[in-house]
Amino acid sequence: MLWVLREQLGMTGTKYGCGIALCGACTVHIDGVPTRSCVRPASTVKAAEKIVTIEGLSKDGTHPVQKAWVALDVPQCGFCQSGMIMTATALLKATPNPSDKQIDDAMTNICRCGTYNRVRTAIKAAAKEMAGAKKVANALNIQHVNAGEA
Ligand code: FES
Ligand code: FES
Repeated sequence: MLWVLREQLGMTGTKYGCGIALCGACTVHIDGVPTRSCVRPASTVKAAEKIVTIEGLSKDGTHPVQKAWVALDVPQCGFCQSGMIMTATALLKATPNPSDKQIDDAMTNICRCGTYNRVRTAIKAAAKEMAGAKKVANALNIQHVNAGEA
């Protein structure tokens, strides 16, 4: 799948690192599940399944995880970071307020530059922002309902 994404579709945000499902640089979401695309044959993806790459995470890099990555200067060389972000976004969707252990268990991606501490800090920052946004959305929804009732 990695080569279909990169060479046939021109979406080069997804990187080739090891090719044997170890580094995570090639991580994409298939129906929200982080998947190492270097070992997943494209032919095994069903038509109804939705593939999201780093290009599809947000239109303009404003996903809370991407914003946290920028704010905290997470990347060094950057090569592993698309995969890191895809794994982190899937983690936060499944576990909105992850503990250090949950982050460490989920973030099995390898970074030669050693950005692990900053990755962890950025995940926590993104979790906070997402929780805040959810609170605001819930409050607006309540107001909307109240306004509808009035
Ligand atoms: S390139 Fe796929 S896990 Fe390393
Ligand atoms: S930022 Fe360089 S490999 Fe991770």
